[in-house]
Amino acid sequence: MTATVTIRHVVEVGQFDRAGIEALFAAADRMRDLPRGQDPLRGHLLATIFYEPSTRTRLSFEAAMLRLGGQVLSTENAREFSSAIKGESVEDTVRIVGGYADAIVLRHHEQGAAHRAAAVSPVPILNAGDGPGEHPTQALLDLYTIRHELGRIDGLRVALVGDLRFGRTARSLARLFKLTRGTELLFVSPPAVPMGADVRAELDAAGVRWREETDLAAVLPEVDVVYQTRIQKERFATPAEYEAARGVYVVDAAALARLGPGAVVLHPLPRVDEIAVEVDADPRAAYFRQARNGVFVRMALLEHVLGAGA
Ligand code: CP
Repeated sequence: MTATVTIRHVVEVGQFDRAGIEALFAAADRMRDLPRGQDPLRGHLLATIFYEPSTRTRLSFEAAMLRLGGQVLSTENAREFSSAIKGESVEDTVRIVGGYADAIVLRHHEQGAAHRAAAVSPVPILNAGDGPGEHPTQALLDLYTIRHELGRIDGLRVALVGDLRFGRTARSLARLFKLTRGTELLFVSPPAVPMGADVRAELDAAGVRWREETDLAAVLPEVDVVYQTRIQKERFATPAEYEAARGVYVVDAAALARLGPGAVVLHPLPRVDEIAVEVDADPRAAYFRQARNGVFVRMALLEHVLGAGA
């Protein structure tokens, strides 16, 4: 990846500029067609440390590293099966693992953990989600998917739907749209989980238009992208608060009927019931292609932080 800025740790989307994401997406396109036998990261070792569950982020990072010819060591339930259970801090853990591996992918339950890890790590840290904070590599693959599906990232009207308060993917993606032009964001969330005032203030400062909407059916005909998200049960204080927020906004066949023919439906996944299975067969349902794109974007990121880029 040729970028204006060399990024050592990937902890938040604010580190990227427009030229940087254009370069990253070009590198991801190249990864899509990387001939077998080209192993630019041969001899490099990636550690994945996950204190929270994951299917896509951990396995796509590991697939990315293996596809580039590198190797992987992993702890997939670090909260229980690493020395965190004995009281070891995340700072000490990355200091140690940074002596074993050339880069670390870290998912942690505390907001800010990736920043704390990056401050002491001897090797690059890639934030795979820090509590309700950020999930920068997900946002990058989301925007890459929009470009791949629609052919552009500017001049779009995008509905961010669901849990915008705890949903780190929606928070990171909204911030990433600051690098685009002519974007309008529509926030459609249950009252308990609105988009944070911090993100709304950042968008205002960057001149990104946004508005809050309550009627998903009414906005569907006017949007290019529906970015649906899961209501994050694990981040609610009580089951009653979760029950009040779930099931309010569902993308189903009736919703698809109102969506334009050139629009796409994205979701960072996993889904519970906020996208009906009947939607999967529609060509506008792009969420499984989106998940696959994660491998290509993460290959490009690994190549960049490990210094093997073009
Ligand atoms: N999108 C996402 O972060 O999925 P996982 O929790 O499965 O990694």
